[in-house]
Amino acid sequence: MKTSLIAILLVLSLTANGVLWHRMTALENRVGEFPLGQHMGVLQRYADKLWIAGETGNWELAKFYQHEMEETAEAVIDAHVMDEGFPVSKTMSTMLPDALDSVKAALNAKDRDLFRSRYTSLVATCNACHGAANHAFIRVAVPTGPSAFWNQDFTPTTTN
Ligand code: HEC
Repeated sequence: MKTSLIAILLVLSLTANGVLWHRMTALENRVGEFPLGQHMGVLQRYADKLWIAGETGNWELAKFYQHEMEETAEAVIDAHVMDEGFPVSKTMSTMLPDALDSVKAALNAKDRDLFRSRYTSLVATCNACHGAANHAFIRVAVPTGPSAFWNQDFTPTTTN
């Protein structure tokens, strides 16, 4: 009687462990599959457009790209990404939202000089993490060239 009870308990506990193991593996796979590089490429593109829009004085458009960057950063944060042992999401949550907030304040103030300095800090934030994450060779820069290659008109549609 006692032995069969122990056997039942053993089977139950093994089943529970099995279920847990299965769920953990599924979670690991999900995190492992998160396309971090693609999200970074999106951040880079929005950052580029954010600069052009800000330089053009198109504050409405600049705010749009700032917001897109916030959402992209949130997606990375929510995905709990580890990259070769480096906690990307955790680190991002302590760095990028603050830097993006300060850019937003400059956009709301429609202050070109403030925007330039906050944007430069934002770029430094991107690179600080690349350095910490053993990707120092990925160096984001403040755009210097013309915006002519974009198939997009960055000038304001209304007075903003
Ligand atoms: C919290 C850390 C962190 C922050 C903050 C961060 N990155 Fe990254 N970034 C990474 C890591 C890690 C990789 C390497 C990804 C990989 O291995 O696929 C990367 C890769 C990249 C790449 C290479 C992918 C490509 O398409 O060329 C670009 C570009 C990039 N980041 C841009 C940015 C920009 C722009 C910002 C700021 C707005 C930024 N990153 C902020 C961690 C970060």
